[in-house]
Formats: sequence, C-alpha cells, structure tokens
Amino acid sequence: MAEENPFVYGEIAGAGAFANREAERDRLVRDLEAGQKVFLISPRRYGKSSLIRDVLDRLARQRVITVEVTVAASSSYVGFLEAYAQALVQAETPAARVRRWVGELFRSVTPELRLESVPPGEPRLSLAFPAVRTARDTARLAAEVFALPGRIAAARRQKVAVALDEFQAIAAFDGGSVEQALRAAVQTQRTVGYVFAGSEPSVMDRMLGPRRPFYKAGPVMRLDKIDPAVLASFVEARFTASGLRPQAGLGEAIVDLGANVPYDVQRLAHETWDDVRAAGRRTAGLEDLHVTLTRLLGEQHTVFEAAWQRLTLAQRAVLRAAVLDGGRGLLSAGARVRHRLPGASTVQAALAALVRQDVLLKDGPRYAVSDSLFREWVARATC
Ligand SMILES: Nc1ncnc2c1ncn2[C@@H]1O[C@H](COP(=O)(O)OP(=O)(O)OP(=O)(O)O)[C@@H](O)[C@H]1O
Ligand SMILES: [Mg+2]
Repeated sequence: MAEENPFVYGEIAGAGAFANREAERDRLVRDLEAGQKVFLISPRRYGKSSLIRDVLDRLARQRVITVEVTVAASSSYVGFLEAYAQALVQAETPAARVRRWVGELFRSVTPELRLESVPPGEPRLSLAFPAVRTARDTARLAAEVFALPGRIAAARRQKVAVALDEFQAIAAFDGGSVEQALRAAVQTQRTVGYVFAGSEPSVMDRMLGPRRPFYKAGPVMRLDKIDPAVLASFVEARFTASGLRPQAGLGEAIVDLGANVPYDVQRLAHETWDDVRAAGRRTAGLEDLHVTLTRLLGEQHTVFEAAWQRLTLAQRAVLRAAVLDGGRGLLSAGARVRHRLPGASTVQAALAALVRQDVLLKDGPRYAVSDSLFREWVARATC
C-alpha cells in the first residue's frame, strides 16, 4: 500500500500535519470569540497562517462567521478593499443570495457584481468598485467596507472572526490613513474578533508603537518556534505512522538542521521521506538525511549562486561569518580578525542589509540565516 507523504511544506499545514501550538490555538480561539483585536507576530514561516486556518476552522464549527484575507496579495488599496469586501459578503452566503445580501449591506457605495463562470465549475462572484477614483472616494469606500463585519454580525446575529494575514503590507497602501480608518471601525465592533498577523516583526512593532492608530488596540501574541523536543518527536511519530521506521536521533537531527523553523523542518522531513520511500526501504536514518540534503543543495545550486552574486563583498563576508560562527559576536574584534571582516560600521551596515533582504533574521542576540538550505550551501560552496 502506498502511504502518502505525511509532511507538508509550502502550504498551510492542515490538522494532520500540525504539531503542538495548543496553548496558542486555545488562546486565539478564546480571544476571537470574545471579540478581541489580536496581533499575531512572528518571523516568516513560523506557522502563523497555519495557526490562523486551524483557529478559524474551529470557530466556524462553533457557528462563528469567519473571513480570511491576505493583505499582501493586493497591489493597491482599492484592490485590497475589493478583495476584503468580496470575502466578507461571501462568507457563509450561498451564491444565489449574494446579490440581495450586498444590497442590504452597502449604504453609501454600490459595488459592481459579476458572476464569472470559470469552467469547469461553480460560478465565481467578483466584486469591484469601478466608480472609485479619487482619494476621497477611496476613504469613503474604506469606511463602508471596514464597517461591514459589524453589520454582518448584527444582521446575522452571529459572531464574526476576521483574519487579516500579512497585515504589515497595509502600511504601504496609504500611509497612516488606512490604519486610522480601520482602527476607528474595529473598535466599535464588539462581536467581531480580529487577528492581524504580520511576518515582519520590526514593521509590526512600529505599527503598534505610540502615536500610531493601533497603539494598545489589543493583545499582542508572538509566535515562537515550537519546542524542539516536541517537534522532533512529532517528526518521528509521523515517520512511524506512515510505515517508515526512524532510526534513533533522526527527528532531532532534522529539527537541528532545519534550525527548528517549522517550514524548514517539514521540508527536510518531507524530502527525506520521499527519498527513502523511492529507494524502497523501510527505515530512515541520518545517512538518508544527508543524502537528501546533498540532493536539495544540488537542485538549489543555481538559485543560491545567483543570490550570493547579488550580495556585496562585505555582505558575503559577513554572511559567511554568521554561518560559521552561528550568528553570534559578529561585531567583536576577534570575529573581525578571524573572518577578515571590514570595520565595525561596515559590518553593521551589511548585517542590516542582509536582514532587509530577508537573508538573515535577528533571533534574540544572534543572526540566523532565514533559509537553512542556503545556510548549508554557504558553508559548503563558498570560501
Ligand atoms: N504547527 C505546525 N506544525 C508543523 N508544521 C508547521 C506548523 N505550523 C507551520 N508548519 C510548517 O511551516 C510551514 C509554514 O507555515 P505557515 O505558512 O503557516 O507560516 P507563516 O508564519 O504564515 O509563514 P509566512 O510568514 O511565510 O506567511 C507550513 O507549510 C508547514 O510546513
Ligand atoms: Mg503566512
């Protein structure tokens, strides 16, 4: 019998592929049900979207109307308002009733509705505001759209939970005025819970700072890495359940090599599982992990090489030093001599640039390479 690969990466981790996060789930479910406005913050690929999906599924089972929108997917403010309005009017509304529902919900702006029958399937509704042209039109539209969750909750006599994922992107739309308008709307909506999730901690922190509209708007939840021991036994348990016996230490080695970032761990586990299965074997060990790692590095070589070429010499030197020293003490005189680094201020500037480009991320006092495969590639292929 061909078992399916039990590890998932690059998409939302569904119930079966989900490890731990019990405390975070319970808390988020409770807060959203209570109509709180929660800020969920973590570096990329720690599992925010997966957690949100799981929490919204749970809430939906408790008859809460749930809506999820990725802010960063829109290329303009009006585009975001359209996508958001569309998600709101469609939430738990049969396609046949959407038109009437839209008529009831909107007061000062009338959207244009189109039913697109993309073959082969169900008609898909799309909603647009072609009449919106000026900044003033947009502001009026925003006020209308941001009020919708409250109106829906009242009309349906149900609680509503809204997730705005990649929320940091909102700041780019229209400076502070979007934040202002959204904050003003959400704070009057007692029966609507919001989770604003963001993957750039520094941007999110700035949004929550004093004198910004979302200052003290609600609780802040920081998603940490999963306990490495828990994640390691989760990995081994999934190997076992899918018919491959993990040798002692495999889970720990995968978690370690993936720097305990959920995405990286799932990727290594998934790819190792595939290779072992393809070889027709029934046990998986450290040797297999290394074979898989070598394959992955080979496949990514061109991409990594191009990424390396794009860096300045100072950035390359600093990145290499970060890889070799585990991202610590990069500004010390010892490290600068050992790795032939430029002056402290140049190192500092290079670190900032690498963080900006998402190559490094600041993890407490140390700098970690965001992608563990790239880290291994730098360690092996550069000098
Ligand atoms: N609780 C979990 N247990 C196991 N794996 C997880 C868990 N959460 C996330 N992952 C893994 O990490 C990957 C990334 O998760 P997700 O997309 O939810 O993170 P994110 O924080 O939203 O990332 P981004 O900032 O890039 O949007 C998933 O595809 C999955 O492989
Ligand atoms: Mg996400």
